Amino acid sequence: MSNSDSRPIGVFDSGIGGLTVLKELALQFPQESFLYLGDTARLPYGSKSPQTIRKYSEQNIHFLEKQNVKAIVIACNTASSQLTEKEFDGLPIYNVIEPGSQRALELSQTGKIGVLGTRATVNSQAYTKKIHELNAKAEVFDQACPLFVPLAEEGWDSDPVTNLIVFRYLSPLLQNHIDTLILGCTHYPILKNSIARVTGSSIELVDSGEAIARWLERDFKEGRLKPNTESTPRRIDIMTTDYSSHFTEVAHRILKPVKADDFRIVDL
Ligand code: DGL
Repeated sequence: MSNSDSRPIGVFDSGIGGLTVLKELALQFPQESFLYLGDTARLPYGSKSPQTIRKYSEQNIHFLEKQNVKAIVIACNTASSQLTEKEFDGLPIYNVIEPGSQRALELSQTGKIGVLGTRATVNSQAYTKKIHELNAKAEVFDQACPLFVPLAEEGWDSDPVTNLIVFRYLSPLLQNHIDTLILGCTHYPILKNSIARVTGSSIELVDSGEAIARWLERDFKEGRLKPNTESTPRRIDIMTTDYSSHFTEVAHRILKPVKADDFRIVDL
């Protein structure tokens, strides 16, 4: 049996947020091809009901499965909070909640951990439950930040308006003296400069991309995933469910220095 698997890794999110995960994975695994799906026609997921989020996520998984991917990374915390299966029809599925929780516990000295997320993620309590499952003594303080996704989609990183909104959401959370903060939505690393300006350098920030990359690395080493060892250059293809030139423009900015080979519209 061959030890190489040249099929791409599927990655999905509701919009551009998952590109922060794709970038991290593309940099860490330069031999792997990626197929990214941004469900831009139905963004945002964070304000929708658990049933709808689950339905959309399953549709995304079935779509990527048909594209013959070797694994799927749910690069969306909101979708991850509703879909906890580790496999679908034998296909490995990577959810970002556990890697993020584990990373936060590794980094935290005091066990006081903050979580920022969409309303759906915060309401699901997925992080709080997972962190407590891993360490019952940890204290978790969460905050829904529904205005962050539109700011990130707009590409307003480090904008004075963004700085003000970040300050407004984070101030109550910081009163709990957290030492680690999970950016529990893949859109939020786009606003990292604004967030770090408010948290200061003593609070560690955890983002989904870095956390999940460590899990993939482990699975490549342990053989759960086979690497691509072919000599042909890898591909990065981006698909969205709606057309927008703005998406393409912001996507290039987020992915830099990673280059996408193609952007196309798909119908799920
Ligand atoms: N990027 C998604 C997440 O990680 C949420 C964006 C949305 O609300 O659609 O939660």
